[in-house]
Amino acid sequence: MSDLEFLKDAEFELYRQLIYAESGITFTPTNRSILESRLKERLREKGVSSVKVYYDSIKADKEELKGFLDSITTNLTRFFRNQAHFDALEKYVVPEIINKIRKGPSGVIRLWSAGCSTGEEPYTIAMLLNEILPPTWRFEILASDISLKCLMTAKEGFYAESRIVGIPDNYLAKYFDKVNGGYKVHADIQSKIKFDYHNLKNDSQQRNLDIVFCRNVIIYFDEVAQTAVINRFYDSMASKSFLFIGHSESLFGMATKFEFLKTEWATLYQKNV
Ligand SMILES: C[S@@+](CC[C@H](N)C(=O)[O-])C[C@H]1O[C@@H](n2cnc3c(N)ncnc32)[C@H](O)[C@@H]1O
Repeated sequence: MSDLEFLKDAEFELYRQLIYAESGITFTPTNRSILESRLKERLREKGVSSVKVYYDSIKADKEELKGFLDSITTNLTRFFRNQAHFDALEKYVVPEIINKIRKGPSGVIRLWSAGCSTGEEPYTIAMLLNEILPPTWRFEILASDISLKCLMTAKEGFYAESRIVGIPDNYLAKYFDKVNGGYKVHADIQSKIKFDYHNLKNDSQQRNLDIVFCRNVIIYFDEVAQTAVINRFYDSMASKSFLFIGHSESLFGMATKFEFLKTEWATLYQKNV
């Protein structure tokens, strides 16, 4: 069966609009083949032969829609992805918060890893903050994703040998147990992270966050959806807080109040009020 026969233009349009309305994820003629291959796989798994029948089922059943949205996401991630961001977090952002913004002898840093995939990003942040924060400071991390499958892996905190590349040896020894076939994150580091389902098309109800990481997520959205997500982050963040986006993503030309911030290590954004 050729791809053209698999998904007719009108059907592509229906799926495209539904996915966009429900998640912000944007399919265009250029990346249509990605949707087609993921949809084919989903139909095979579900034993459904008609794209129209499956469309009707995701329209009618919210749980099936969730599962479908999960199946079309791209979840590529790794520990210490883009080290420059973690250098900026350690050498610029955390010292700014502790010494200049809050100035207190103690406190809590609240951080959100939005679009955390299988957990490598929030675990990287948790290990780093655990190393660098003074003993009188604590941190809390919210890590969320639209993919329930990814969240299950993230919560479990078990990673096959092939996926632990990038973790420095001293971190691996300190924060992981070697178990059959891979490595398991220690429970005390896991306890600093709350993993939760959240679709970025909705308000998170979070307020006063000090730092948001949303890296390699808005790249899948069009500009309207990107702007809406970024402005919702703004509302959920504290005064003088910091936003990290992926290194191939940018807020340039976008209607947001974030200010561009160039540090010695990486560029990021600040809510500068
Ligand atoms: C490529 S991964 C990035 C993971 C990690 N932030 C990183 O940079 O390594 C993108 C993640 O964004 C999630 N995502 C996509 N659209 C989303 C939405 N509307 N709400 C929440 N998460 C979403 C996907 O499920 C996926 O796990």
